[in-house]
Amino acid sequence: MATKRGGPRSKAVWKESSPYSRISLRRYTPNVGVVVDNIDLANIDDETTKEIRRALAEYCVVFFRDQNLSVEQHIEFGRRFGELDVHPAAANATGHQEILVISADENSDRANGEAWHSDVSCQPQPPMGSILYIHEVPPSGGDTMFSNMYAAYDALSDKMKEYLNGLVAVHDGEHVYRGLYTGVADKPSYPRSKHPVVRTHPETGKKCLFVNRSFTTHIVGVPRDESDAILNFLYQHMEHPNFQCRFQWEPNSIAFWDNRCAQHRAIWDYWPHRRYGHRVTVMGDTPF
Ligand SMILES: [Fe+2]
Repeated sequence: MATKRGGPRSKAVWKESSPYSRISLRRYTPNVGVVVDNIDLANIDDETTKEIRRALAEYCVVFFRDQNLSVEQHIEFGRRFGELDVHPAAANATGHQEILVISADENSDRANGEAWHSDVSCQPQPPMGSILYIHEVPPSGGDTMFSNMYAAYDALSDKMKEYLNGLVAVHDGEHVYRGLYTGVADKPSYPRSKHPVVRTHPETGKKCLFVNRSFTTHIVGVPRDESDAILNFLYQHMEHPNFQCRFQWEPNSIAFWDNRCAQHRAIWDYWPHRRYGHRVTVMGDTPF
């Protein structure tokens, strides 16, 4: 029996606002991510920086291979995009407070970012972007998954978009960070903020979903069971593989993701092997 289907639930519509002239982009999957080839991030000019910023906002995550940056050059690259954020909970392990060490090995009892999230979304002004530079990779595994929140929003029904319009959700760092970092004293409190469930990206003007499994606790102004049901639906929806890519790291790869329109999830499937890298995080603005 023939079945009638309406085609794909989501269609990747890639519209560059204008052509790129300084960087060459290769799409990583139809829906999210681009690879920028033939670039040395230690030596870029302002025009190239502008194009990387635009690619970030348009494609959610930008990947670079074979980079050779010192800690100072990594920080300097981050500063081209804005002031750098200092993590509210993690240790300062390198002597540079801007560097967040991302490391897991056979002695780790946890690895960073194993649930879908947007970095530190509990802050009143969550980071606009994160730049992860992985130095050491396991023999296999240790990929990072990224999901496109513009595409997830676009694929919702008009009725659901209407329902979500104007809703605000609480993002809390308390249950995420308290006791998380071994050997680091807990802070008296961790950030907690309210953000729109659907935010508008300040650079593209496009709407994207902005709730995540790690930090978002509830939608304000609706009964808790309704909030749980809606959030669970949205999480399940945004985790559909159609919106995703799974980035395979090589030593000295860099992923620069836009926390405003992407979520990500790290995969710790490589124990007892070691994976090590540094992240710098660019400050963002108040979501609207
Ligand atoms: Fe993260």
